[in-house]
Amino acid sequence: MIGVFDSGIGGLTVVKALREQLPHHDIVYLGDTARTPYGSKSAATITRYSLNNTDFLQRQGARLIVIACNTASSYAFAAVRDHFDGPVFEVIGPGARLAMQRSRRFRIGVIGTRATVASGVYEQTIKVLQPGARVYATACPLLVPLVEEGWVRKPETAMIVRKYLHPLKMKQIDTLILGCTHYPVLRQVIQRKIGARVALVDSAEAVAGQVCACLGADGAMGHMGEGRGVLKIFVTDTAEQFRKTAQLILHQPVDIDQADL
Ligand code: DGL
Repeated sequence: MIGVFDSGIGGLTVVKALREQLPHHDIVYLGDTARTPYGSKSAATITRYSLNNTDFLQRQGARLIVIACNTASSYAFAAVRDHFDGPVFEVIGPGARLAMQRSRRFRIGVIGTRATVASGVYEQTIKVLQPGARVYATACPLLVPLVEEGWVRKPETAMIVRKYLHPLKMKQIDTLILGCTHYPVLRQVIQRKIGARVALVDSAEAVAGQVCACLGADGAMGHMGEGRGVLKIFVTDTAEQFRKTAQLILHQPVDIDQADL
């Protein structure tokens, strides 16, 4: 069973990509809605929450963990990897690598939470892969609550996206990393506002590709076996709004249980 967590709904974009690529694997998802957003919390708090989430998923039977949150990946990956007895995946490395494959001029924009942008982790990772790359990162703190509310097609959301992307447009980026797993939900409006010539890199899609490569029939972790494609979703707070947005992301009805961390 694959365990996936995020501060809220955003990690379901990773679940969607995982289910497309690994339809027979069972997945247990935890959205830590009681403590969202992580993007405005300290490194110590984000790490503590991430370890709680990992323990919960392990109790549900997870044998592999995907940190489907850029903020938690930025601050807590090493702690989760040291704590959990099994493979742990994060979203920054796969997103940065995919951006390097897609970019032609290596003028890279990154959008994420305040905490992810403050960590500088994308710049560091990209500079290792491509020392000459120019990286421009912008925090977009209002986008997570808009996604959690399901405000995907509202004109107010489009206005806010345009304002956040304006400085990156001025830098003439050719690739934009969606450095928060909530943002693929806003992919259409982001593409419209940044322009059709800018390649969007979805870190959710990128990490799913990496998990898939490791779990594939001949992959290094083929022994972890398949399941029946069951998806179990837990949240740490009320589920009603979460259910509506989850259905929007996954395009299927979902059952949601309460998690007791
Ligand atoms: N989805 C999370 C991420 O990828 C962030 C949401 C939050 O601020 O809690 O960074």
